[in-house]
Amino acid sequence: MKDPITTMKIFLDTADTDLIKEGFATGLIDGITTNPSLIMKSGRDPEEVYQELIDLGIPDISMEVVGTGEEMVAEGRRLAKKFGKEQTTIKVPCTRGGLAACRVLAKELIKVNVTLIFSPSQAILAAKAGARYVSPFVGRVDDNSFGGLCLVKDIANVFEKQFCRSTEILAASIRGVRQVSTAFSYGAHICTIPPNIFDGMYKHVLTDAGLDQFDADWKKVQKTVTSSLDV
Ligand code: G3P
Repeated sequence: MKDPITTMKIFLDTADTDLIKEGFATGLIDGITTNPSLIMKSGRDPEEVYQELIDLGIPDISMEVVGTGEEMVAEGRRLAKKFGKEQTTIKVPCTRGGLAACRVLAKELIKVNVTLIFSPSQAILAAKAGARYVSPFVGRVDDNSFGGLCLVKDIANVFEKQFCRSTEILAASIRGVRQVSTAFSYGAHICTIPPNIFDGMYKHVLTDAGLDQFDADWKKVQKTVTSSLDV
């Protein structure tokens, strides 16, 4: 049997280091994905955020690069050198330049996450370019009236039929707890989720109700035990 921590990996999709610290302390978080919008929301210098995550020991941190293919390669190399190839993943968009950059970086054993994936054909090209991860955007596909989770399933089918084992499907733009389990059941290897969805994964109204009942009954048991000892 596979070690459970090597499958169903969960990444947090945020640049908020306070929330990341809280999540990572559970031991259930396998990595972090950031993007320019999330960094902007944090109001911080991106490299200060990355350094804090490196120091926390986050095993895998997606850092997005922008510009032309050449600029993405240069920036990807610089970031991988500064933060170390082990923990650094360079995130590039699924464009001609991004795929070219992916090919160069992957050959240098720098992990690449090809992001903004909206079709199986994009995922195929990203895999051929040596991507470690492809990131289909589930929520944004749903926003446009077609099925984000079906996209995950379609990519997983292609990768399975073609024995593609070197690229993992990282389901992104996840908007609800239910989407996480469905994405995994459709073949995603990783789900990157906002911290509130991570919290929603363990919270359940019936767990709370059951716990209230157990706590109340436990108090009654303690009282009975104490009074029988008093006799
Ligand atoms: O990792 C990309 C993802 O964060 C995008 O999410 O909710 O902005 O579509 P969203």
